This record gives sequence, structure tokens and C-alpha cells, in this order.
Amino acid sequence: MQNYERVKSDSISAELYTKRKPRKHQAEMQMVVEAFQMLPTPKIETVLDAPCGVGRFSLWMLQQGFDVTAVDLGESAVKLTTELLEDNSLVANVGCQDIFNMQFGEQEFDVSFCFRLLHHFSEEKDQAALVAKLCRVTSGYVIISYISTYSTTTLRRKLRKRISGKAIKQNPISLTQLKTMFSSYNFKHLGSVKRSGLLHSLQLAVFARNG
Ligand SMILES: C[S@@+](CC[C@H](N)C(=O)[O-])C[C@H]1O[C@@H](n2cnc3c(N)ncnc32)[C@H](O)[C@@H]1O
Repeated sequence: MQNYERVKSDSISAELYTKRKPRKHQAEMQMVVEAFQMLPTPKIETVLDAPCGVGRFSLWMLQQGFDVTAVDLGESAVKLTTELLEDNSLVANVGCQDIFNMQFGEQEFDVSFCFRLLHHFSEEKDQAALVAKLCRVTSGYVIISYISTYSTTTLRRKLRKRISGKAIKQNPISLTQLKTMFSSYNFKHLGSVKRSGLLHSLQLAVFARNG
């Protein structure tokens, strides 16, 4: 298998994710609600949450009545997701998988959802590979978060990098680049959800398979 940049998937990071600031979580949840509102819901049954982290979005998706499959590379994340869903008496197919080597069939899911992973990759080849892997398993829609190149936060981070020389942890990508990657797999851009305008750099894009 090809080598991809590794993103943290350890137990400490997973534990920290369970303590995410409520206001931040609520703002991100609102983005997800708005992105799903763009989909023709009566037709949506199966949703892949990859990576699921500690299960915060899988929980919401199950509460919406979707048939959810949740995967993450981190064993702790998978364990915490399983526990969260059990605590809420909900059932999903949760497992440990590398998103670059998912053991699912072609177009197995109506929707694939990928939140807060793409921006961890600094190289375009890894970003493009992630898009390819998500498109392969999706028959309908891919919802993916990205860090926009056009925000004050991104400009501030670039400036900080220039001054301090420290690498940027959150790698931005333009919507145009993202659209080009998705169009290679016959997906078109349906729309995007922004997190409060210029200040925040996180965005959620919805892509639909053509035809
Ligand atoms: C920032 S968290 C986001 C989790 C979740 N989407 C959320 O927003 O709550 C990134 C997650 O990606 C997982 N991860 C990193 N590399 C991965 C890979 N190659 N395949 C699957 N999961 C991966 C990590 O274990 C971590 O749980």
C-alpha cells in the first residue's frame, strides 16, 4: 500500500476530544445539521462516518434514523464511540479501519461524512487520495470539512508561520482545488456551509455524484 501522512490516533487525543468545548462542538454540530439539510433525506439510508473520532456525529446521525457505519484508525476512538452509542441505546456498525484502506465495497454508502481530517494533510497527494477513497465507497453524497484558504484565521496562521518558521497544523485548501479533486470522480459541488463568515476557517462542503 502507498504511504500516507499519519495523523494522531492515540488514546490521549481521543480522550481530549471527549472534552471539546461545548460552544465549539455546538457550532460544528450546527454546520453538520445544515449540510445534511442540503440532501434529499427521504432517499438517504446508509451513512459512513469516517473518521468517527469519539462518535459525536454518529450519535446525531443515528438519532436522525440513518443506518450508520463508523470507522476510525484509533482503537480508543472506536471504543469511546461504541460506549457512547451503547449509553444511548443505539446500534451502529463501529470498527477500526484506516480510511486509506477501507474494507467496503464500491458505492456502498448513500452518504460519506468526513469531519476534521482533510486539513491534517499537508501534501496535495494525500488530500487527493482521501477524496478518492471517500468517493469510491459513496453512491450519493460526500460531506467533507476543510480549512478555507480565504479566512482571516488562515491569513493569521500563514503570517505566524512566516514570522516564527513553525509549520501550520491546519492546512488550508481552496474550494476550487477541492472541486477539481471531486470532479475527477464525477462528483459536483452542491454547496458549502461556513462557520460564521470570515473569522472561522472551517467549512463543510457537500458533493453529489453526477447521474
Ligand atoms: C480531529 S479527529 C475528528 C474526529 C471526528 N470526525 C470528529 O470531528 O469528532 C481526527 C480523527 O481521525 C482519526 N484518524 C487519523 N488518521 C486516520 C486514518 N488514516 N484512518 C481513519 N481514521 C484516522 C483519528 O484517530 C481521530 O479520531
